[in-house]
Amino acid sequence: MLSFDLASLHAGIVDPEMDSMRILSETALRFPDALSFSSGAPYDGNHDLSALTFYIDRYIKHLRERGVPEARITRLLFQYGPVNGLIQDEVALMLKRDEDIDVPAEAIMITHGFQEAALVALRGLFTSPDDVLLAVSPAYVGIRGAARMLDIPVRGVAEGPEGLDPQTVAETARAVRAEGKRVAALYLVPDFNNPSGTVLPRAARQRLLDVAAEEDFVVLEDNPYGLFARDGESQPTLKSLDTRRRVVYLGSFAKSAFPGARLGYLVADQEVTEPSGTVRTLAQTLSKAKAMFTVGSSTLSQAVIGGYLVEHDHDLRSATRELAAVYLERLDTVLAALDEHFPAGGDHGVAWNTPRGGFFLTLTVPFTADLAAMERSARDYGVSWAPMTMFHLDGGGEREIRLGFSNLAPDAIREGIARLARFVTDASKDGATTTPKHPAPEIPEGQA
Ligand SMILES: Cc1ncc(COP(=O)(O)O)c(C=O)c1O
Repeated sequence: MLSFDLASLHAGIVDPEMDSMRILSETALRFPDALSFSSGAPYDGNHDLSALTFYIDRYIKHLRERGVPEARITRLLFQYGPVNGLIQDEVALMLKRDEDIDVPAEAIMITHGFQEAALVALRGLFTSPDDVLLAVSPAYVGIRGAARMLDIPVRGVAEGPEGLDPQTVAETARAVRAEGKRVAALYLVPDFNNPSGTVLPRAARQRLLDVAAEEDFVVLEDNPYGLFARDGESQPTLKSLDTRRRVVYLGSFAKSAFPGARLGYLVADQEVTEPSGTVRTLAQTLSKAKAMFTVGSSTLSQAVIGGYLVEHDHDLRSATRELAAVYLERLDTVLAALDEHFPAGGDHGVAWNTPRGGFFLTLTVPFTADLAAMERSARDYGVSWAPMTMFHLDGGGEREIRLGFSNLAPDAIREGIARLARFVTDASKDGATTTPKHPAPEIPEGQA
């Protein structure tokens, strides 16, 4: 019987850090009685099975209204389709409406979620082992994982309370160059970063684009949470400010529609000149990578999301206002409960940031908040969360907790924070904890 030592497999599979997505999703299953602040799963209270067929029908109706012949509609939905997708026109209209991003459909590739968009972009842009990805730290585990699976070295750039400092990015890029390497791209989430909840101020956005041009790298802008801001507080996306075409925008419908669709998109309007002189967009050129990763994105998922976009007049900002209000109420509930349990001026040693939207905030505690601590919290106190160390790229966050509040109702949040307060009080008395080294059980899903 063929068998393997784990160590004989690819480094990305061997690396225990690559388990973090699974560990976070597994927490809810392993501790079913715990209230979970550990994931970033979107609110699912409004889901309705009949919406799936409604939106597919809506998309088919839309194609008919546009005069697409019946046989072609049938083929589009049942056959292998164009690699870059079916619904780029709808996404282009949405980007114009929601984000003031003005790109042609040819600059858009429909992907299997953000995750495939990241894999495709990284595969195309990184050509040598000396090409380095700079990434905001702490960062979403999906980007580190995508880079790891492609053997792309990642260097973290620590963010502050207002996200990445462009000056620090410039200095890091120069330091990388001084080592004889090249920064090929910078990854960040300018709006409500996962895990920290930070938002990059407007002036820093402009400055970051200048730094990208000066230091000659591509910006990978990941924006799944931008719609969940308070009214009037949305910042312009980097892509909408991108007059020099430095930005490749990585979108996801996981939070604006639903994650089960596994649909996202990549916006790459940069020009690529082929040896024949033919000029195509980077999105069109990268379709070679997409073809080899997934052949194409599910036509069914595209029909559902296409119908959703058409039905809402390509205006997801308006379509998600009620959803945004749900998340903002939850955020406010977490903040109020934290205030209540850890009053200002107390000697509890607990602090937190106050994001203005998104799904997450960071709690600082006076003890080591590692996986062992989280397991004790979930098992003995009935509340789970995510250790911030999971998201730091070069160490850090040992005494920090990520609280994800998107999928807990306000009452559950109040109860959860009360339980968390009991755990934090006891753990603060006990001092530091350590993580036992044992493999996590096999659970195939991932949501971080
Ligand atoms: C920062 C960030 N990017 C992207 C995503 C969504 O990725 P996908 O579209 O692959 O589900 C998430 C989901 O948790 C996220 O937090």
